[in-house]
Amino acid sequence: ASTLGASAAERGRYFGTAVAVSRLNDSAYTTILNREFNQVTAENEMKIDALQPNQGQFNYGNADRLVQHARSQGMLVRGHTLAWHSQQPGWMQNMSGTTLRNAMLNHVTQVATHFRGQIEWWDVVNEAFQDGSSGARRDSNLQRTGNDWIEAAFRAARQADPNADLCYNDYNIDNWNDAKTQAVYRMVQDFKNRGVPIDCVGLQSHFTGGSNYPSNYRTTLSSFAALGVDVHITELDIRNAPSDAYRNVVNDCLAVARCKGITVWGIRDSDSWRSSENPLLFNGSGQKKPAYDAVLTALNNG
Ligand code: G3I
Repeated sequence: ASTLGASAAERGRYFGTAVAVSRLNDSAYTTILNREFNQVTAENEMKIDALQPNQGQFNYGNADRLVQHARSQGMLVRGHTLAWHSQQPGWMQNMSGTTLRNAMLNHVTQVATHFRGQIEWWDVVNEAFQDGSSGARRDSNLQRTGNDWIEAAFRAARQADPNADLCYNDYNIDNWNDAKTQAVYRMVQDFKNRGVPIDCVGLQSHFTGGSNYPSNYRTTLSSFAALGVDVHITELDIRNAPSDAYRNVVNDCLAVARCKGITVWGIRDSDSWRSSENPLLFNGSGQKKPAYDAVLTALNNG
């Protein structure tokens, strides 16, 4: 096929992008979005600070606009993210203990209920582990409510929207040998063993170049999959967008049956959170870059 989404669909996958809702008014942006992608993730509009700026007051306008756009185009929606230490509204940042635990669970329940039936996958918990060699949980106000906060969030999400697949999402869990990867792997294994409802793991995959795209990435994908969860490449971008690294990522996903799809973290380089690194598949003028051709070819021939 001649577009990313249609080519991925022929391989039983999706190919998606992060979307900034404010850019839906930019016709150059929306033209590429509608032509190339069959999955979307809100770049910021489904985060806690966006959806519940004041306690008990929910703002669904921008997020609903994205969901409507996606539905009208037949795109699948990934929800991002129900529980996270970052981008918490001020009222939540100042909470602790049982008050915070209950506020977090209420947020999960309210939001998952609001979008029930419209979200294919939820990033229930995002970035809960430390970088480096400790393999420990990241210290945060949520972690300080007790080590079981993650499974409590997953149980609340399952109850609110039983049909959405529930994912744990993180960065720097790409290299199979890293302590952080192993720690997340053990958590997922433990959840599966104890019946905590988890369906998938999201590997953000923000790469800084050939150097940190690990040669064992495929092993990481297949090892998580062997636990009985799907794997998703959720926020792909690569410094300077080298064609061979993009091609390898696509081929690694295609090699693992439970790798359900790839989401790039923005459309044009100018839309990227790291725009100075030109890490995406389209340049600022909306033209396809060499990495685009490499991805399309891999999806069709890989
Ligand atoms: O919307 C406000 C605007 O009103 C204000 O004038 C402006 C001034 O700074 O800020 C705007 O908000 C910014 C928002 O992006 C929208 O552009 C925030 O400051 C900025 O912090 C926010 O950055 C986002 C970042 O997450 C926040 O953590 C990035 O766009 C977004 O790409 C990035 O995405 C994360 C994933 O959620 C999780 N994984 C890592 C990834 C990259 O950091």
